[in-house]
Amino acid sequence: MAIIGQDIEKAKEFLEAGQLVAIPTETVYGLAGNALDVGAVAKIFETKNRPSFDPLIVHTDSIEKIGAFVCEIPEALRKLGEKFWPGPLTILLEKKAIIPDLVTAGLSRVAVRVPRHSLTRSLLQELDFPLAAPSANPFGYISPTQASHVAKQLGDKIPYILDGGSCEVGLESTIVGMEDGKVTVYRLGGLDLNQITEVVGEVEIKSHSSSNPAAPGLLKSHYAPTKEFILGDLDELVPEMLQRGRPFGVLSLNKRFTLDGPAPQFQLSPSGDLVEAARNLFDYLRQLDQSGVEVIVAELMPENGLGRAINDRLRRAAAKG
Ligand code: TXA
Ligand code: MG
Repeated sequence: MAIIGQDIEKAKEFLEAGQLVAIPTETVYGLAGNALDVGAVAKIFETKNRPSFDPLIVHTDSIEKIGAFVCEIPEALRKLGEKFWPGPLTILLEKKAIIPDLVTAGLSRVAVRVPRHSLTRSLLQELDFPLAAPSANPFGYISPTQASHVAKQLGDKIPYILDGGSCEVGLESTIVGMEDGKVTVYRLGGLDLNQITEVVGEVEIKSHSSSNPAAPGLLKSHYAPTKEFILGDLDELVPEMLQRGRPFGVLSLNKRFTLDGPAPQFQLSPSGDLVEAARNLFDYLRQLDQSGVEVIVAELMPENGLGRAINDRLRRAAAKG
């Protein structure tokens, strides 16, 4: 079983030995290995049961260090990096040969990010290599936002989990790159789109659901609970569930229903704050999934701020196949 602790030196030892360590970031926990060591990178795919066509994000502790891994950085993307790093932003850049093809699934661009969590920043500062890290969940399941989530699912496969508490943002990073001279968003995430457009103007959004592996990580069904998950109008769904008599749970922004009996209800943010809702999303989804219910009913958030990214995750959680 993995040791859970806050010992950066221990984490460093395992990583230097080519082993994997779960690391906290402000978005979600990552399953990290030496990005320059093909053996360590292969272990990441194997441990997560992740198909090798789905590339990994490379994490480092400063924008200066990125120069060693990528060719030039287009002006608009540099501006975004300077403004939002460290933070929940990932940038796709043309890679140098030092980044193994396994990391990028053979693509010419590598995804890079400077995360904000202080423990992981200290760890990255002490390492002389960057860390490849996908979210630390089995492929297709809900991303982990606490050390205990990682321990439960991958604890028997890795030696160490660096415990940085609950993730502050709770949604994966927003992914951007340049396409046809335009800043393009490939995944909505923890950095609000409005903040990006304030810096670079209008952007193209290409994060729509797809079942095409060539649009990596945008698989239509993802972040999926094992229970049946239905998205819709809770005022209709809840009475319907009561009538059907199947045990169900409710995930709402802040609605509460009067129900006799023990149906679990989770309000993502009682005050309707979408930042708080993002922070709670994956934890509440997990709790519902692990409760005794057969069905989870949920509603979409308002389509503004982080609501859009939350809705993206909810739709993928509800998608079949
Ligand atoms: O917040 C995050 O981004 C977290 C933390 C740990 O940093 N990481 C994360 O990694 O969410 P992962 O592997 O679960 O999701 C990364 C996404 C995948 O959908 C992958 O397909 C996409 O980034 N991606 C990575 N490299 C890419 C590339 N070179 N081109 C296009 N998409 C890429
Ligand atoms: Mg993931």
